[in-house]
Parts: sequence; structure tokens; C-alpha cells
Amino acid sequence: MPERYVYMDHNATTPIHPEVKKAMIEGMEYFGNASSFHYFGRLARKHIENAREIVAGFIGANPDEIIFVGSGSEANNTVLNIYACQCPCCGVSLKQPKEIITSNVEHPCILRTVECLRERGTTVRYADVDSSGKVDLTHLKNLVTENTGLVSIMMANNEIGTLMDIKEIAKSAHDKGVLVHTDAVQAVGKVSVNVNDLKVDFLTMSAHKFYGPKGVGALYVRKGAPFCPMIRGGHQEKGRRAGTENTLGIIGMAKAIEMLKTEMAPSSEKLKKLKQRLREGITQTIKDIYFNGHIDDSLPGTLNVSFDGVEGEAVLLYLDMEGIAVSTGSACASGSLDPSHVLLATGIGAEKAHGSIRFSLGKDNTMEDVEYVLKKFPPIIEKLRKMSTAYAKG
Ligand SMILES: Cc1ncc(COP(=O)(O)O)c(C=O)c1O
Repeated sequence: MPERYVYMDHNATTPIHPEVKKAMIEGMEYFGNASSFHYFGRLARKHIENAREIVAGFIGANPDEIIFVGSGSEANNTVLNIYACQCPCCGVSLKQPKEIITSNVEHPCILRTVECLRERGTTVRYADVDSSGKVDLTHLKNLVTENTGLVSIMMANNEIGTLMDIKEIAKSAHDKGVLVHTDAVQAVGKVSVNVNDLKVDFLTMSAHKFYGPKGVGALYVRKGAPFCPMIRGGHQEKGRRAGTENTLGIIGMAKAIEMLKTEMAPSSEKLKKLKQRLREGITQTIKDIYFNGHIDDSLPGTLNVSFDGVEGEAVLLYLDMEGIAVSTGSACASGSLDPSHVLLATGIGAEKAHGSIRFSLGKDNTMEDVEYVLKKFPPIIEKLRKMSTAYAKG
């Protein structure tokens, strides 16, 4: 049994906030189908519409610009599919150019979707990123033409925490009449996100990344932006996403957002200090290491580190034996031993990309957690380096 359990994998998912849990237990009473006209249906509807106002208000949107969905992946798929739409019913296909511009550091739910759309005839272009993982604005600007339908760039990278210059990206796309989507799944709850400040047309969020429940997210669609539903059926979400609403999940998501209003800012300040101590401690105790991501424009709790001569997976297993939970890349990509596409895009090379670990700290982590990691982590690297040197000597 480890001395202590330390969860530092909050970019994969977060624990449910106790207040969210309470709200959801109470929410179980509102079992009616929100589309039903009777009392039980109306009660569920009231809670959903209340939640919509809370979610919308938090990002500066109007409630009718928010569509509740089942996940961040679904929201991202929905937006991208609008631009490959072939259906005669929504009319989008007649008006919108088909080219999509994205980057190669996006989450797999963007990258796999655009790959699939490309197979079906959509032109996809990838903006370069620099060594910190930031999208190169000049390159992006040059890619945008009158044939571009959509620019989709994430707001914060899940693996290295780099924050993108979404405001400038949106401006340069809008200057050429092109609409902009940002996958803000990792940003919401960690940094301020406001659609009027960013001036994006579509924005994705997912509740389980900010202490809400899994299986619920929201897609912001600016009023008047072209739209085509990915899931057709009933008239839920004003015909934009069929399927009986996940009342309980939606209530949980809204409660998580309410908690962020007071807790996000102090938590970010604390996380910055914890991350700084973790970074300094690692630098002082381990040789030949490299930090990935932007040093300043970065999520407050994300620290990605590469080390020569060690496999990230081995480090992860040894840390797990000490009760420390981290990740070697995006959780969705784990199971594959391919080096992280994000790290490769930053140009660090396959070997270093293989020897990388992501610490993603959350609101309940403490300085004691960080000190515990700093006690356990360096000897693990040393041991694995010795093992790999011994193995190389045969
Ligand atoms: C940047 C980013 N986008 C999208 C997703 C997918 O969100 P969900 O798990 O809600 O499908 C994730 C999940 O890790 C993510 O990090």
C-alpha cells in the first residue's frame, strides 16, 4: 500500500465536486421527460433551462446559443460535420465552402474527424505550431482563403497546457469572412473563457474536466452561424441535438460552473505556486530533463516533462506503485505506444517524446502532494536510467 495517494491527472478527468454531487442527488427527483407538458416534464424543463442560463452566462453567451450534448467529443464532431454537410435539409452544404483549417496538436476527436472528412472530400489544412506548441499565426493567416469554411483551433492543449492566441486567430479568420471554432474543453474551469472577448462562433466545453459529471458537455453556437445537427430525431435542443435531455448531467454541469465562479480564481493562483515548486524541484533533482509547452501562456496546473533514457510508460507504472497518478499523453491515446502527436509536432523528436510525463494538478492538490512527488519521482528516474544503461551494455 503506498504511503499516500496523489491524483495529478486532472486533464484526463476531475473528481466530482461535493456540491455537484449534492445537486445531482437532489436532481434525481426531476425524472420527468423535459419534452412532456405535464408537471413532471415541466419541472425537468425548468431545471434544464436554469442550467442553460448558468452555462451561457459563464461564457458570455445567450442561453439559446447553448446546446447540451453528451461530451466534448460530440460537440467537436458536430461542428466539424457542419462543414462537410451534404444533407439537403439544412441548406448548409449549399452555402458553405468545405475547407477546414486546424492544427496537428488538436485532441484526437478533432484529428480523427477531419481525417475522416478528408476521405469524404473535405480539404483539410494544418497550421504549424512552434516549439512551445502554439499555433503559428502567420502560417495560419496564409492558409486562410476564400475557400476556407472553418478554422478550428483548441484553446488549451491537453498534453502540454499551452494556451493558444484564440482572439488573434479569430480576428484573422473573421477578416477573411471565415468562421472559428475553439475546443475549450481544457480551458473552461482553468482560465477565463468569454465568447465575446474571444469572438469565436463555436466553442466546446465538457463538464467532467471541471469537477462536473461525465457524459455531458455544451456546444456554443453563435446566433446566426450555420448549423446542421449530427443527431437527428426529436425536437430537443430546438432541433439541434435530438435525444431526451440528460437532466441530471445538465444539473451537475451547471452546479460545477456555479462553483467555478468563486473557486476558479483562487484555485488557479494556488496551482501556479504548486506547479512552480514541482518544476523547480524536478529541475534541482533530475539531470537531462526538458519541460514541454509554453512557459508563461500555459494552463496553471499542467506540467509536461521529458527525460532522456527513460520510457514514459515505465515512469507512469513506477509512480502508480507509489500512489501517484499521472499520464503519458492524452488518456484517449493511451494503449498505443506511439509517441505523442503533440510532442512530435513541437519538434522534440520521437525519443524524447517517448520519455514524457504529464502532471496535471487540480484544486484539491496540496504542497504536501507536490513534496511527496518530489520525494518519489527522482529516485524512479534514476533507477530506470540505471536499468536502461545496464540493458544497453547487455
Ligand atoms: C482538448 C480536449 N478536447 C476534447 C476532449 C474530449 O472531451 P470528452 O471526454 O468530453 O469527450 C478532451 C478530453 O480529454 C480534450 O482534452
